[in-house]
Amino acid sequence: MKKEECYELLKIKVEATPEEIQKAFDLAVKEYRARERASPSQTEREFEKIVAAYRLLIRERNRDSSSGSSISENGGGREDVLKHQPVSEVYSKGAGHEKGIQRGIAENMTDEIDKHLVAFLEPRSPASEQYRVLFTRTQQLLGNALHKLLAISSSVKGEGKTVTSLNLATVIARDFGRRTLLLDGDLKKPDIHSYLRRAGKMGLVDVLLGKATLEDCMVPFLFEDLFVLPAGTRCENSLKFLSMPKMGEILAQLAKEFDYVIIDTPPVLPLADMNIFSNLVDGILLVVRAGKTSRDVVKKVLESLPSQKVLGVILNDMEVNFKKHYTAPY
Ligand SMILES: Nc1ncnc2c1ncn2[C@@H]1O[C@H](COP(=O)(O)OP(=O)(O)OP(=O)(O)O)[C@@H](O)[C@H]1O
Ligand SMILES: [Mg+2]
Repeated sequence: MKKEECYELLKIKVEATPEEIQKAFDLAVKEYRARERASPSQTEREFEKIVAAYRLLIRERNRDSSSGSSISENGGGREDVLKHQPVSEVYSKGAGHEKGIQRGIAENMTDEIDKHLVAFLEPRSPASEQYRVLFTRTQQLLGNALHKLLAISSSVKGEGKTVTSLNLATVIARDFGRRTLLLDGDLKKPDIHSYLRRAGKMGLVDVLLGKATLEDCMVPFLFEDLFVLPAGTRCENSLKFLSMPKMGEILAQLAKEFDYVIIDTPPVLPLADMNIFSNLVDGILLVVRAGKTSRDVVKKVLESLPSQKVLGVILNDMEVNFKKHYTAPY
């Protein structure tokens, strides 16, 4: 979508401030909702256009305001550890509740966007900033532009892999302008589609089965540079699919088409899936949920993965005091 069209769609001037964009967006969503009631089938495309216009303009403004200090401030810490601000902290303490775009969009779009997608709902919040930090640290650790298939895993289930994948992919596409694919590689317990609510039903498994092409299954999502490839048809035997030679071919193809492929993968325990994934990807980030997984388990899991592939750990859902610099060795 061209910028001129965005301004036209939101009925605002080129020099509109973020607050004016927010107001215009609020109004457009209100009008859309009224129309939706009258004719539900025709309006989904319209809604997507409104969001596309909003995100294009806001991305431009955000880039200006967030190419900032705290990334470089935190960038020089321990190289083996990654961290991010817990999403829960944002909700409970309202870190992103200053007046502005993020508040407007959060209030207007809670039906459409899952509240855990904080990088979208509250782009200027400290939590979103930490996802940007996470990406810059990851880039430093990868060190080579050719390495771009990134698996997000964890020791056990429920540590925040999917939430981390969603938010990380969002900032990579929106704030860093990289063409990004979010791939649901958790074939036994795929979740990306439920957080996004609208992703299609066909996905990776269907491509592996030869029932669909990548183009059939990839869904554009929220930003022009962000696409989602859902897991697709549910399968019980994920190992059978992941070990197909075609799996490697698909990932190679995706690596050609995208700057980064963020893969939401299964936990390391108790499944064997990560043994396969660890050979297929360029890097692994391990999400560790604070207070949930013991240090011993994390240590064992890290030892079970190829050490050259493990980029670091992401501490999820922990109390963070922004005045301090938190690191946690593994
Ligand atoms: N930082 C956080 N703050 C608050 N809630 C969180 C946070 N991270 C994850 N959650 C919540 O914890 C639950 C598990 O998160 P998520 O689905 O991302 O985990 P997962 O590792 O992908 O789980 P699974 O192994 O079942 O796929 C969800 O209800 C999610 O909303
Ligand atoms: Mg998950």
